[in-house]
Amino acid sequence: MGHSMLFIALPFIYLMLYLPPLTTADLSSDEEALLAFAASVPHGRKLNWSSQNPICSSWVGVTCTPDKTRVHTLRLPAVGLFGSIPSDTLGKLDALEVLSLRSNRLILNLAPDVPSIPSLHSLYLQHNNLSGIVPDLLSSNLTFLDLSYNLFVGEIPLTVQNLTLLTALFLQNNSLSGPIPNLQLPKLRRLNLSYNNLSGPIPISLQKFPVESFVGNPFLCGTPLAQCFGVPPSSPPFPAEAPTKPKRSFWKKISTGVIIAIAAGGSALLLLLIVLILVCFSKRKRRQGSGESKGKGSLGGRSEKPKEEYSSSVQEAEKNKLVFFEGCSYNFDLEDLLRASAEVLGKGSHGTTYKAVLEDGTTVVVKRLKEVIIGKREFEQQMEMIGSVRPHPNVLPLRAYYYSKDEKLLIYDYVPSGNLSSLLHGNKGGAGKTPLDWESRIKVSLGAARGIGCIHIDGSGKFIHGDIKSNNILLTQELDACVCDYGLAPLMNSAATPSRIVVGYRAPEVIETRKYTQKSDVYSFGVLLLEMLTGKAPLQSPGRDDVADLPRWVQSVVREEWTAEVFDVELMRYPHIEEEMVQMLQIAMACVSKAPDQRPKMEEVIRMIEDIQHSDSENRPSSEKPS
Ligand SMILES: *[C@@H]1O[C@H](CO)[C@@H](O)[C@H](O)[C@H]1NC(C)=O
Ligand SMILES: *[C@@H]1O[C@H](CO)[C@@H](O)[C@H](O)[C@H]1NC(C)=O
Ligand SMILES: *[C@@H]1O[C@H](CO)[C@@H](O)[C@H](O)[C@H]1NC(C)=O
Ligand SMILES: *[C@@H]1O[C@H](CO)[C@@H](O)[C@H](O)[C@H]1NC(C)=O
Ligand SMILES: *[C@@H]1O[C@H](CO)[C@@H](O)[C@H](O)[C@H]1NC(C)=O
Ligand SMILES: *[C@@H]1O[C@H](CO)[C@@H](O)[C@H](O)[C@H]1NC(C)=O
Ligand SMILES: *[C@@H]1O[C@H](CO)[C@@H](O)[C@H](O)[C@H]1NC(C)=O
Repeated sequence: MGHSMLFIALPFIYLMLYLPPLTTADLSSDEEALLAFAASVPHGRKLNWSSQNPICSSWVGVTCTPDKTRVHTLRLPAVGLFGSIPSDTLGKLDALEVLSLRSNRLILNLAPDVPSIPSLHSLYLQHNNLSGIVPDLLSSNLTFLDLSYNLFVGEIPLTVQNLTLLTALFLQNNSLSGPIPNLQLPKLRRLNLSYNNLSGPIPISLQKFPVESFVGNPFLCGTPLAQCFGVPPSSPPFPAEAPTKPKRSFWKKISTGVIIAIAAGGSALLLLLIVLILVCFSKRKRRQGSGESKGKGSLGGRSEKPKEEYSSSVQEAEKNKLVFFEGCSYNFDLEDLLRASAEVLGKGSHGTTYKAVLEDGTTVVVKRLKEVIIGKREFEQQMEMIGSVRPHPNVLPLRAYYYSKDEKLLIYDYVPSGNLSSLLHGNKGGAGKTPLDWESRIKVSLGAARGIGCIHIDGSGKFIHGDIKSNNILLTQELDACVCDYGLAPLMNSAATPSRIVVGYRAPEVIETRKYTQKSDVYSFGVLLLEMLTGKAPLQSPGRDDVADLPRWVQSVVREEWTAEVFDVELMRYPHIEEEMVQMLQIAMACVSKAPDQRPKMEEVIRMIEDIQHSDSENRPSSEKPS
């Protein structure tokens, strides 16, 4: 450390020799500033900076603007910088946009002229021993500010409120105290204030961040941490008027609607069951009367009342049977089904879905179709088509169907765990969403893609799913995806107004022509991938542009080169996945191409996702935890 004296003396010499080059901000002034910095801050590894060599091409860590007139980036991570950064060194690089001095041994205050360089947009100073207060003069161009793992004290400066472009703020593992300012930063996607000594309620605008953004501050309270004692709760969890969360409150509205609808559906089912049971009773009696009983008569004790008109009763009884598909081991009939206890699982565009538990404990899913527009013949043909999709672990098989004039029922296996939509966006009943890590999302995407691919290949390559959306991707406990509700679109009245959610997945040509193709399936799958990457639900109210048309929104964000911003905040916690996320984003964007023939085939999509999964397991240990 014998050089220290010399290093400290040097800046004075520089200052005396080359007095302020204030007027000419150019490459030579940048060079001076860098040399002054190198001279005043000792460093373990030698920087090969020398005025003999061209600064833009041979100085380690330095990158210039494309026209080579100014220094634009300085990255010196872990080069053993030791000491403090004096003013009038780096602060003079007034075209600097990116500064990274992370993982060094910088101490004392940060020179105030560094974070305030007006052009600066990314500042990485994590893992040093910087102390003093967080500078309050900050470049208004900052998008990324990382001061974590230092020794900063005092409060978070209020000026952070003015950093409207900020996307990431990392202040964890310092000794900051006082309240968190009410940061209304529309672009903020990543926040970490953990392990400080911050206190008071978490402002509403930051309550959307996870617990992990705030842990280790014992005096902090409010959502997502424990409720504040003595302080009235600062807000309801979904404030309708909070300007930062319009989509949440939108969801909320929908969900109450759905709950009412489900409740209504439930009582409607009860009525239906009663009516159907009555109808069946009378039919059974008629059958018995004509000696056609199937011999399953456990419902004894009926009086023999003469029937008014039962001309075609025998035929009706024959016709109105459940039609089971080959390879199905179920052994029940319509009456068993009608005696089953039923619970509404959901109400979708095709009708209401129930979970039915039969007396013998068999559990199946029954879908009651509404607004079926095609006749019996066509219906049966379509059912045969759906039933012929070969067994595949990622496809929910149709087990049986029932057709009568007034009722059309489809019977599926029951998958206990849930669907992708509720996992990503939370349950409509209010249950929170489950955090889905990146690997799980790849797994689910791949499973769904394989399921859809299987549907596309079967049925002589002409079969179409027609309703791909996150609600129709069922998930087992192990997150194996199972694609359901395929092949129903041709049964339905396509003129009926579809729900907003459905519209969000529809390819442009489907909205125009109402014709589904495998390529329109690929489009919907692309929207599904975007949904998984962004964590946003594809909603669209007809005639309004402001609500997310997911592909268009993503396209606009990516065009502005804010790529990182499209991704789900949830995913930002995991290290080293950015590249894979970008790869997945590219697949999704290819799928949502406007022109159908520019979209890849499902087989290609599967291959591309498999590539990501492979690179994934090669590049990092599967147990890697969020950083
Ligand atoms: C300085 O180091 C960088 C990276 O190690 C190298 O690319 C560059 O050529 C070196 N410059 C000189 C003048 O040696
Ligand atoms: C920071 O200082 C402490 C002691 O003051 C030391 O133990 C630690 O290694 C230093 N950290 C760095 C990154 O230099
Ligand atoms: C902020 O950044 C933008 C775009 O990079 C640039 O045009 C603008 O000049 C910057 N502002 C300042 C004060 O340097
Ligand atoms: C934020 O900017 C506005 C206008 O530029 C200014 O009036 C205000 O004082 C700033 N607030 C803080 C906390 O710096
Ligand atoms: C951050 O602080 C927490 C709590 O003091 C500690 O457990 C953790 O190891 C710290 N992380 C680092 C990298 O210093
Ligand atoms: C943390 O802040 C509380 C007040 O909010 C104060 O009483 C306590 O001494 C602080 N702890 C440390 C370690 O600074
Ligand atoms: C914030 O940093 C802490 C400490 O290093 C870490 O435990 C936590 O997971 C981080 N939170 C987020 C949201 O990344």
